[in-house]
Amino acid sequence: MSDRRYYLGLDASTQSLSAVVADSSSRRVVYEGSVQFDRDLPEYGTENGVLRHEGAGEVHAPPLMWVAALDRLLEAMRAGGVPMAEIAAVSGSGQQHGSVYLTGAFPTALKQLDPSRGLAEPLSGCLSRPTSPVWMDSSTGRECAEIREALGGMRAVAETTGSDTFERFTGPQIRKFWRTAPAAYERTDHIALVSSFLASVISGRVAPIDPGDGAGMNLMDIARFDWSPRALDATAPNLARRLPPIAAPDTVIGSVHPYFVDRYGLSPDAASVIWSGDNPSSVVGLGLVRPGMAAVSLGTSDTFFGTMADCRTDPRGEGHVFGSPAGGYMTLICFINGSLARERVRDELGLDWQGFADAMAQAPPGNGGRMLLPHFEPEIVPRVASPRVRRLGLDPHDAPGNCRAVVEAQMASMRIHSRWMQVSPDCIYATGGASRNRAILQVMADIHRCPVHVSEVSNGAALGAALRAMHAHQGAHGRPTPWEDVVAGFTDPVHTARVDPNPNTHAVYEDFVEAYERFEDESIAAD
Ligand code: XUL
Repeated sequence: MSDRRYYLGLDASTQSLSAVVADSSSRRVVYEGSVQFDRDLPEYGTENGVLRHEGAGEVHAPPLMWVAALDRLLEAMRAGGVPMAEIAAVSGSGQQHGSVYLTGAFPTALKQLDPSRGLAEPLSGCLSRPTSPVWMDSSTGRECAEIREALGGMRAVAETTGSDTFERFTGPQIRKFWRTAPAAYERTDHIALVSSFLASVISGRVAPIDPGDGAGMNLMDIARFDWSPRALDATAPNLARRLPPIAAPDTVIGSVHPYFVDRYGLSPDAASVIWSGDNPSSVVGLGLVRPGMAAVSLGTSDTFFGTMADCRTDPRGEGHVFGSPAGGYMTLICFINGSLARERVRDELGLDWQGFADAMAQAPPGNGGRMLLPHFEPEIVPRVASPRVRRLGLDPHDAPGNCRAVVEAQMASMRIHSRWMQVSPDCIYATGGASRNRAILQVMADIHRCPVHVSEVSNGAALGAALRAMHAHQGAHGRPTPWEDVVAGFTDPVHTARVDPNPNTHAVYEDFVEAYERFEDESIAAD
């Protein structure tokens, strides 16, 4: 086992490529840096990291920009004095679902990468499709319907692949490419995800896909963590030979390509570890390494990340199930009306956030049976096609009632729509802007009946990638380390910010959740 102690995690997200270096001895992040695509690589012409085809719902990105960013970032690290030779292993996370289409020249071009030339130009000859559809693309409605039907309907697709078909998912995107550009599809010998494409570049060979990112394709059998022959057949002809294998989340692909040794001073022994998607990597970066842990990110949308040991899928097809890098499964359930809805209520009442929190405190838990259905924008969980805000027994000008009602609705909805997991979280890590609001966290703790901790991890996806590199590398060198020990120190929540459930509210909230479910069902049925 080498005594190199640093682990590099990269995160290829929509707008930037970021790096985190984690020190396994001091258990601290010792470097964070990033390259912003629009600002630092303007020659690729992206806006917020993407190229939009107005009207068609097509949102793509140039894959060569990602490799150019990799050169930029590693150069900045080297020039900035990061001890590159002390890095033991590298891994990464990629925005999920995006796909890269490559010809048979790709493996040779990888082998021949030349430290004097940079990455983008030699790889430019290997693309059978110059741009990559990314997760913001919504142009594959027809393909989603076709694949869903071929696989026996929404519930069957979700049971097989972990999710219903979604426009951004890779399978529907591949099908559209085959349908609209059959000759280019014929020329495609390798289809990679953003994650496996960059892992291939770093390893110098076509990299496998992990069960976390593989589950974002509508192509992987979620129970077996292998390609589903039926899903492949429903998507495009001869797809199996174009896909790399699915491999375990701890796979060490090999050593880094000599390109990175010569050009940036990495050690020739530095291990290149399989990448994952940004959400699975974030689950590790947040410290969710044990089934039963959950996180809620309170952003523009609210996202619930759950973990579970067994494979269960959402019969309503609203939530996603991915392989968790820490073993077992993770779920991602995204509620569009997160801060967006809280802000609308706050603004309608002319309050600031402190005023919102103070108002919440003036209404009792359960709000005396008053409720608000907060679908200010179309919602995906539950599926609601057009905005619909309904109040039950609530005067729209009643500040305490409305502030409490929007938060209680959101937390009840989270509980109702994660019930299919059959795991009640034993703790929740809250992140995102609104996690500073203790009144919101109290409702979360009361409705989910578990303690809520505030997590201060920034760059969770890149940190998760660094910690995955550490776990895989230590395991491969005869030092298998429990996940709890790998994340210790890096992902610990803020101790002073723990919020415990108030047992006096249990009964009230059990009734409330039941009543809210009826209210939601009736409102949706009435639409
Ligand atoms: C998840 C999703 C996004 C991307 C972008 O399904 O589409 O979170 O991973 O980062």
